[in-house]
Amino acid sequence: MTATDSPRVTAPAIAKRKGSGTPIVMITAYDAPTARTVDGAGADMILVGDTLAMVVLGYDDTLQVTTDDMAHHVGAVARTNPHALVIGDLPWLSYHVSTEETVRNAAQLVRAGAGAVKLEGGRKRLGAIQAILDAEIPVMGHLGLTPQSIHALGGFKVQGKELDAAKVLADDAIALAEAGCFAIVLECVPDGVARMITDSIPIPTIGIGAGRHCDGQVIVWHDVLGFAGPIRKAKFVREYANLEFQATESLERFCADVRNGTYPSSAETYHMTDGMAEKLGLVGGEPEPELAP
Ligand code: KIV
Repeated sequence: MTATDSPRVTAPAIAKRKGSGTPIVMITAYDAPTARTVDGAGADMILVGDTLAMVVLGYDDTLQVTTDDMAHHVGAVARTNPHALVIGDLPWLSYHVSTEETVRNAAQLVRAGAGAVKLEGGRKRLGAIQAILDAEIPVMGHLGLTPQSIHALGGFKVQGKELDAAKVLADDAIALAEAGCFAIVLECVPDGVARMITDSIPIPTIGIGAGRHCDGQVIVWHDVLGFAGPIRKAKFVREYANLEFQATESLERFCADVRNGTYPSSAETYHMTDGMAEKLGLVGGEPEPELAP
């Protein structure tokens, strides 16, 4: 059985992977081409993250995207019909105002093609989590550095470094697991704290900047492939390619070919049928000599 004809990954299947010994892989994607690369690589989950705001739309933080924006991109990813579970990230303010709005916003991402949603925060989000779960939508939690709280946290900083803060994180993780989340992202926390949380809860932890003891890892597509432009590279990012450089270099060659007249070649051109130019009485329709590609 190949990855493509095995059953599509579901949230309950991810939850069952706890303790399986094989780390879970989640990679972000925001459109059809990035989704195809992530699914083609065999990731278990595709996160349509609100990092969309920063790595695709050029904002300085994630606070600028709306549920409509997220649904637009979830739809593009889902239409590639991936084997991986598609997770729609609930953006800032989409689950903070009222229970009714929270459920409608989560449902909008599911209608766009998500099989689960993710939201940020600990025990103060239990009401939102419960309401979404009651609407039969699987929820992934997100603790540690929660970028939607950037102003409250005072910047993109490692969380849980002090004893008290680590305890709060662990208690939040236990509460989210008890509430019924199927997995929790742990972002930018010391590896010892991530390990303690991972060992304390019955659902998978998916780390980003949280060391190697989590049940899985998540990474942002543009970070791992060297396509994040001016965004500062975090310590935990391992770059497997420099696509921004490769894309620019390739496009430079295209620009040069257009300017030196070698693009398009005859083979890259639609031609009139023989004798048509004469029948039309046009000048300049004669067959041209072939140019080197
Ligand atoms: O929005 C996102 O891409 C995320 C990951 C960094 C976990 O939340």
